[in-house]
Amino acid sequence: MNPLINALHPYPFEKLAKLLADIKPNPELELIKLTIGEPQHPAPAFVLDTLTQNLDKVSKYPGTKGTLELRQSISNWCKRRFDLTQLDANTQVLPVTGTREALFAITQTLVDSSKANPTVISPNPFYQIYEGATILAGAKLHLLAGNPEQNYKIDYSKISDQIWQDTQILFTCSPNNPNGYVTTLEDYEFLLKKSVEFDFTIVADECYSEIYFDEAQKPTGLLEACQVFGNHNYKNCLVFHSLSKRSNLPGLRSGFIAGDADILASFLLYRTYHGCAMALQTQTASISAWNDEDHVLENRNLYREKFDQVLEILQPVMKVNKPDAGFYLWPQLEMDDEAFCQKLYQEEAVLVLPGRYLAREVEGINPAKNHVRMALVATTQDCVEAARRIKRFMLKHSK
Ligand SMILES: Cc1ncc(COP(=O)(O)O)c(C=O)c1O
Repeated sequence: MNPLINALHPYPFEKLAKLLADIKPNPELELIKLTIGEPQHPAPAFVLDTLTQNLDKVSKYPGTKGTLELRQSISNWCKRRFDLTQLDANTQVLPVTGTREALFAITQTLVDSSKANPTVISPNPFYQIYEGATILAGAKLHLLAGNPEQNYKIDYSKISDQIWQDTQILFTCSPNNPNGYVTTLEDYEFLLKKSVEFDFTIVADECYSEIYFDEAQKPTGLLEACQVFGNHNYKNCLVFHSLSKRSNLPGLRSGFIAGDADILASFLLYRTYHGCAMALQTQTASISAWNDEDHVLENRNLYREKFDQVLEILQPVMKVNKPDAGFYLWPQLEMDDEAFCQKLYQEEAVLVLPGRYLAREVEGINPAKNHVRMALVATTQDCVEAARRIKRFMLKHSK
């Protein structure tokens, strides 16, 4: 057995199941789960129709590179969304079967564990795949927490030259899961300079980029920043996008990676062995989803309305901000996060995730342990009902 397997941490939901194993939720209330970031808004009917109309394609093996038509629709979407003047569908775009597997696989492709101290920089808290992928690639994670007083902005200037020298990958997650921070052009300018100076790859996980609240302020993307700062061939830069959150299609397993053509050529080679080609009917359905923006706007409107209603109830009783973007609330608590989850489950039958499960201790401090994550993915009605119960709970337990 690969000994690194034993270094993997259990997933946050396993830890939660253990935490709640001996606790019964209030039997008078229906359980409401705000734990998993699985969109519950309806999937677009036209995408499902395209999928079912193309089921006969199951009789063909799909190519790893995906059809040119799919890569073209992705490239056009990127150009429209991020105002790019160019993104070559042939060399700078690859479809992936959801960003999760791709984030894992790119780490295996990029990390050179024969070099001294191979290091991967990640936000803390993080999406746990960054950690597992780093461990299995034989590298070490360097974790950085954002500043809660600055919307959880990460101060990259604190990183020493020694760490930069060892760095092979830097993960950004923007909009961030769980705190919603959107990486700014200024942040990217700094990171782009460092990636040239120290030759590492910026892996930008942008799978929440289409869930935002102000139509006039779309989250900035890494490729957009490359164009602004003159990195026209996207050297050392990769972005990861997905239909899971944008189009409420988490089960379709469809996303893409775009950017540096040299890295994508090696990644394609890796993927031929990895064996994650996207089914042809999924590719055809994905084309219809990337080509349409109306359903994405409709989806944002649902989140906007839901966040407004929920925050109106919660903000008077707890420290919780509207995130820059994304669909999570990340309140700061005065109570221990695990105790909060247990009591809330027991008294109000609402499930939330302890913040500490999404982060690791650095120098004895887990930066997320006084937070909980609430995914506002259920219906507005359910989320509002959950918020009312949380308010009642807060009023009962506040000092
Ligand atoms: C930050 C982040 N990245 C990536 C993913 C993976 O999404 P998918 O594999 O559905 O594209 C998720 C899923 O929750 C996520 O929260």
